Amino acid sequence: MNILEKIEQLGVMPVIVIDNADDAPALAEALLAGGVYAAEITMRTAAGRAAIEKMSKEYPDMLVGAGTVLTAEAALDAINAGSSFIVSPGFNPAVAEVCAKYNIPYLPGVVTPTEIDMALSHGINWLKFFPAESFGGAKTIKALSAPYSDVKFMPTGGITLDNIADYLKLPCIYCCGASFIAERALIREHNFAEITRRCADAVELVKQIRG
Ligand code: 3PG
Repeated sequence: MNILEKIEQLGVMPVIVIDNADDAPALAEALLAGGVYAAEITMRTAAGRAAIEKMSKEYPDMLVGAGTVLTAEAALDAINAGSSFIVSPGFNPAVAEVCAKYNIPYLPGVVTPTEIDMALSHGINWLKFFPAESFGGAKTIKALSAPYSDVKFMPTGGITLDNIADYLKLPCIYCCGASFIAERALIREHNFAEITRRCADAVELVKQIRG
């Protein structure tokens, strides 16, 4: 199974904003205990890169990716830190180039047909739909998937346990990204038991919906 298929099999992706890289090992334990073996650690905080490095080195079974990758330099930095995949809020051709060079999956954000065309013209068809709830949610993804039948989406932005089922029901959605699973405040407060609970709830929901 390749990296994208593993992400699809999991069905949920915790989007992580971490303030202290020393929390990365305990976070990985909490995620794994709840059945979540992947994490998108955003480069939004100063600790992001070091957290990616720590988690990917100490937990080789975890699929650790970098999120909020906005430049080619950040992509290279994230890949050097051990990222298995790269996520960005928009489609960035320079990031796409770096990822292609290092053979690392790139999941760029799109919301419009034109942006999907841009990604496709770079040979990328596993995309992120962001910010999902603000741009019409599952209804918009369903409409986009009619002409773009070979495109797969990972919606993020505003996804909660209350609306995740609407997304997971669509066959064109390979995974749902969300920050609630490993909320920033929970990591800061070291409430890892709650993170494990949320992971388990999300994983259970994926199982129920996909059968
Ligand atoms: C992202 O970067 O994908 C989003 O910030 C996650 O959105 P959420 O915080 O609404 O889950």
